[in-house]
Amino acid sequence: MPSLGIIGAQWGDEGKGKITDYLAEEAEVVVRFQGGANAGHTVVIGQRTMKLHLLPCGVLRGVTSVLGEGMVIDLDALEQELAEVQNAGFHPLSTLRISNRAHLVLPHHKLLDAGGGKLGTTGRGIGPAYTDRAARIGLRAGDLLHESTLQERLATLRDAYPKHFQEIGWRDSLPDACRRWAEQFAALITDTGALVRQAYCAGQRILFEGGQGTLLDLSAGTYPFVTSSYTSAAGIAVGAGIPPQMVGPVYGVAKAYTTRVGQGPFPTELTNQVGERLRQVGREYGATTGRPRRCGWLDGVALRYACELNSFAGLIITKLDVLSGLPILHVATGYRLDRHRLDTFPTDAQVLGQVTVEYETLPGWEEDLSHSHSPQDFPPAARQYLDRLAQVAGVPLAAVSTGAERRQIIPLQSFW
Ligand code: IMP
Repeated sequence: MPSLGIIGAQWGDEGKGKITDYLAEEAEVVVRFQGGANAGHTVVIGQRTMKLHLLPCGVLRGVTSVLGEGMVIDLDALEQELAEVQNAGFHPLSTLRISNRAHLVLPHHKLLDAGGGKLGTTGRGIGPAYTDRAARIGLRAGDLLHESTLQERLATLRDAYPKHFQEIGWRDSLPDACRRWAEQFAALITDTGALVRQAYCAGQRILFEGGQGTLLDLSAGTYPFVTSSYTSAAGIAVGAGIPPQMVGPVYGVAKAYTTRVGQGPFPTELTNQVGERLRQVGREYGATTGRPRRCGWLDGVALRYACELNSFAGLIITKLDVLSGLPILHVATGYRLDRHRLDTFPTDAQVLGQVTVEYETLPGWEEDLSHSHSPQDFPPAARQYLDRLAQVAGVPLAAVSTGAERRQIIPLQSFW
């Protein structure tokens, strides 16, 4: 296959970083196409844990790594992340490319997003940066390279945010920052859409790395408790700057249970000891903000919705090992509202907050799965859980991950 997509099938934090890293071993280009430093992709390599926020996981494999045009990029955060990755012995600069169409996250975006607000955002300026983009007053990476365009864009921003420019002293500081960014990043800024299209036509293997998850999609997610980008498969083409036909099979990544960070409805949430156990055993704390993640049973209704919406070629299940030791497991298979069974995943967050969940109960297992090399090594109850999960989702399983390490993955098919 010349290209593959990896998309979160839940509310983010599904373990996409590890899966992208695994698939990137055989890729030639890895592309991020939406979001920004709100993402937190963790890759464990031996004793080392790398947390990437902006950089595609491809930088750890030395392949061409693209920050696509659908992204919003905080160049100060990127500078810091590049330094961390370099300190760890990687050489990202030679392979990294930044889209000239990607928008920049500027100081006022972070100021406006500080504290996370009512939605519990990551506070990284993502929503305000996409707001300026949609309002056509944003600054794009390519603008840094053209002095007259830059001056024009800065003047537009000055008119839109007079208070920030005057009171907070941006009149001088923002042009200075732009000059510094231009010096630092000019060599990396290019038309990445053209780069990816050419790579595709040359037969190179391209991996599209999604951030966040389907249920956080600006359109398809649990609005307004969503992020401000298109996190589902439909976002790949527009965010990477390619025609939809160049997007190959898309795989969904889902945890064997469900988590959510920030506010918003979560029908299968467990606020009891089982939820706490999942949090501790699964180390469910945000990779970007450190916030404890809300934990709950696998929501098969939401997962089925994500599978339908993205038309996943297969599902990659992560963190199955975390469920070991629970005597019984529950999987949500239906929602009811006022005693009526809902046929579709609700579009209204208030409705989702009111549904009663129908659960199916399955036996748990005691065995540690982290050393398993094939599904045959799993206890029968774990196999039964996976089979049921695939049935409920309506999509075959493509791989199972049983630990944070690179090697702890059991592929059930070939991907490329
Ligand atoms: P924002 O993307 O920072 O605007 O946050 C909007 C919502 O998306 C909040 O509920 C965040 O917790 C959530 N969110 C954003 N990025 C991630 C992620 O990478 N993993 C999980 N949740 C995320």
